[in-house]
Amino acid sequence: MTTSTAPSATDLFAQAMRYDHRADPYPYYAQLRREPVVRMDDGSWLVSGHREIRQLLHDPRSSADRLNPQTKVPKAARGLLVQDPPLHDQLRRVVSQEFIPRITGMRDHLGALVSGLLDAQAGDRPGRLDVVADLAYPLPVTVICELLGVPREDEPLFGSIARRLTRGLDPIDTQTEEELRELDQARGELMQYLEGVIARRRTEPGTDLLSGLMFHQDPDDVMGPVQLRVTLGLLLIAGHETTVNLIANGTLALLRNPDALARLREDPDLATPLVEEVLRYDPPVQMSGRSALADIDLAGTTIPKGSRIRLLLAAGNRDATRFDDPDRFVPDRRDNAHLGFGGGIHYCIGATLARAEAQIALTALARRLRSPRLVADPPPYRENAVLRGPEQLLVAFDQLVPDGPQGVS
Ligand code: HEM
Repeated sequence: MTTSTAPSATDLFAQAMRYDHRADPYPYYAQLRREPVVRMDDGSWLVSGHREIRQLLHDPRSSADRLNPQTKVPKAARGLLVQDPPLHDQLRRVVSQEFIPRITGMRDHLGALVSGLLDAQAGDRPGRLDVVADLAYPLPVTVICELLGVPREDEPLFGSIARRLTRGLDPIDTQTEEELRELDQARGELMQYLEGVIARRRTEPGTDLLSGLMFHQDPDDVMGPVQLRVTLGLLLIAGHETTVNLIANGTLALLRNPDALARLREDPDLATPLVEEVLRYDPPVQMSGRSALADIDLAGTTIPKGSRIRLLLAAGNRDATRFDDPDRFVPDRRDNAHLGFGGGIHYCIGATLARAEAQIALTALARRLRSPRLVADPPPYRENAVLRGPEQLLVAFDQLVPDGPQGVS
């Protein structure tokens, strides 16, 4: 006689993180959700229910300061993403005041950038596009470089640094010693690079975001030289490594749902709810973390003070107690309170920009590619489990339709 025991949360989470499950971790998340707040073997807590994640995102007892204990970065030299009030709120005020005005009125420019990137494909490798390399990556990178005032030509340099740094967000036991060493090195390289950019800008100030942050009249005086470098690094990486996955995951959803693609081609307004649905159904940031500043009662259990907490945003997004038919991609879904941009005081600052980039890119793809189809399904995925998305997304098509007189945006 054999006895079968259900896999533990630790096992299920390990399965979800395995690279060979990267294309579809969702069945493991569904199993984890059966116990929405659960203690793992390493003492950390995993939270996968929509209500419970939201509760923690809004609970001041759940601290954003959750860097793994091995990190050598001193507390004051960390970005707002991992800071708590009052410093978080002071930093966020400065960044918002400089960032938000610079992204308003950008839609026409984004439309022109998307057109240019697609036009560049016209004579080149006819009938085939790598949506990641040809559109989803260069678009947000160009935009964030322009916004910040960081030279676009330096991309090969900081692009590789950004890539190595994002692996640091993945669960520590999925990383090798060498990767951890590389992480420290990448951090050092990024800070050194940014120091050079900042030094040049000090003597030649411009109208860009970097100059704005540098010369911000700040009554709290929080943007000292170290924090300036860290903030700049955070924006550069956030601009690099997240929106790429939103556009790629969105393209994948469209090509797997031909009705949605046909509807978007006819009705560009569909882009707004459709991008929200991508952020729910297949979010670029799969999870985040917190640590408990006090005992926290949640879903009939108590997370003890001092515990590390993983918030499985992508699991909460498919919680049947919150969303109808959660495993179905519904491009015009209403009542879509997804967790794709987090929530509470750390809600993503770049959300408006990322949404606009994805809406414009996906609409352009729908309208300009005739009979697009996936060359490989599933496509190859990047190693990253947290910032998850395809490494390459080859799409074959019959024709690249020229841009209309008003453009496609
Ligand atoms: C599709 C693209 C994006 C996604 C899915 C995304 C997702 C997120 C999420 C989930 C958080 C909250 C993390 C937490 O609470 O622990 C966050 C915070 C943040 N995001 Fe984004 N992000 C995106 C694009 C961007 C862009 C383009 C920028 C800026 C250029 C940006 C800048 C930030 C910053 C600065 C924070 C920290 C805010 C704070 O701590 O108060 N993000 N993002």
